[in-house]
Amino acid sequence: MFAIILGTRPEIIKMSPIIRSCERESLDYFVLHTGQHYSYEMDRVFFEELGLPAPDFNLDVGSKSHAEQTGAIMTGVERVLLDKKPDVVLVQGDTNTVLAGTLAASKCYVRGKSPVDVAHVEAGLRSFDRTMPEEVNRIVADHLSRYLFAPTEQAREHLIHEGIPDDKIHVTGNTIVDAVFENLVLSKTRADTVKDLGLTPEGYLLVTLHRQENVDNKKRLIGILNGLTCIHEETGMPLVFPVHPRTEKMIASFQLNLKGFQMIKPVGFLEFLQLESNARLALTDSGGVQEETCILKVPCVTIRDSTERPETVTVGANIVAGFNPGSIIKAADEMMRKPRSWENPFGDGNAGNRIIQVLSQ
Ligand code: UD1
Ligand code: UDP
Repeated sequence: MFAIILGTRPEIIKMSPIIRSCERESLDYFVLHTGQHYSYEMDRVFFEELGLPAPDFNLDVGSKSHAEQTGAIMTGVERVLLDKKPDVVLVQGDTNTVLAGTLAASKCYVRGKSPVDVAHVEAGLRSFDRTMPEEVNRIVADHLSRYLFAPTEQAREHLIHEGIPDDKIHVTGNTIVDAVFENLVLSKTRADTVKDLGLTPEGYLLVTLHRQENVDNKKRLIGILNGLTCIHEETGMPLVFPVHPRTEKMIASFQLNLKGFQMIKPVGFLEFLQLESNARLALTDSGGVQEETCILKVPCVTIRDSTERPETVTVGANIVAGFNPGSIIKAADEMMRKPRSWENPFGDGNAGNRIIQVLSQ
């Protein structure tokens, strides 16, 4: 039996191909939602739009400090694992849900002498910046997992370099490609989000920001927003900004006034795919948005000092600009001039099936 643990927006989206594969194959599995994300637009909208079955368990942990959240998830996960006794626990990515799920499973003996096996989907990503909570989470998950599903060869090399045995690693591609391919066609049958927002294809810039190190730091956040306003003034294009709840909270607490932005609530995946695929350029600190824009052949500027998705930069789809206004403006200018002729480095859209095949054997 498989236990699929998820808790945040990107985990729901990137686990969806695996859940669909389990459904298609009529496998014995259950979904444990930790409740790390809980607002309708960060959580339920994705189950509805992607046609996923409701989670079998929801721990409802909500927002807390890192230690409190990790502890609460571990306690809840252990309880469910002891009750359900799965053979393998699947986690995806680098959130606190992944860290806590991995730790709880790795110490949970449900039968015999071995703890429950952990399968880490999207293994081997590294920003080489341990001040990021996500880097800590992914390193721990990789080193405790029995199955490491690396999206690319480069991710596999990171794991080998850290001493992880090759026979635990499977290069499968990233399940985000499956999710984009499966949902892009569907998204085109939906209401026209671009038109409804008064926008024209390639006539706007898409912005997302939510990294703790960017948005919780007032000086840095003001610098980033000022840089983006300058790009709006130079290009005349609106900055469409679906605002993550963390960012909404910080903008309110710093009492910031934004110029040139069209701020909206976070949207569902089908609407976001429309916004992404029609944007002139994306400016973001999101991991998933770096991947999706690369897949959709939309240029991207990453507002961070590092990326754990270097493949996007190598193929020419992305520039890691840092967070200074001048360098964000320069990178935006450069990316808007580039031809969009790169290849997608994240696989063929069959990662979910491959992962389930390996685990079923
Ligand atoms: C988390 C992950 C991050 C991931 C992101 C995806 C960690 C350490 N961080 O960051 O890696 O990229 O999810 O979006 O696991 N909030 C709501 N409603 C919600 C969820 C959050 O209002 O449904 C607000 C709360 O004020 C909360 C804040 O957002 O304090 C931050 O939420 P949290 O889950 O702690 O971190 P994220 O920034 O969402
Ligand atoms: N996303 C969405 N609606 C939005 C913003 C993002 O559906 O308003 C999706 C996006 O398509 C991607 C994922 O959310 O698949 C990225 O999540 P996020 O940026 O929160 O986290 P990260 O990928 O950085 O961990």
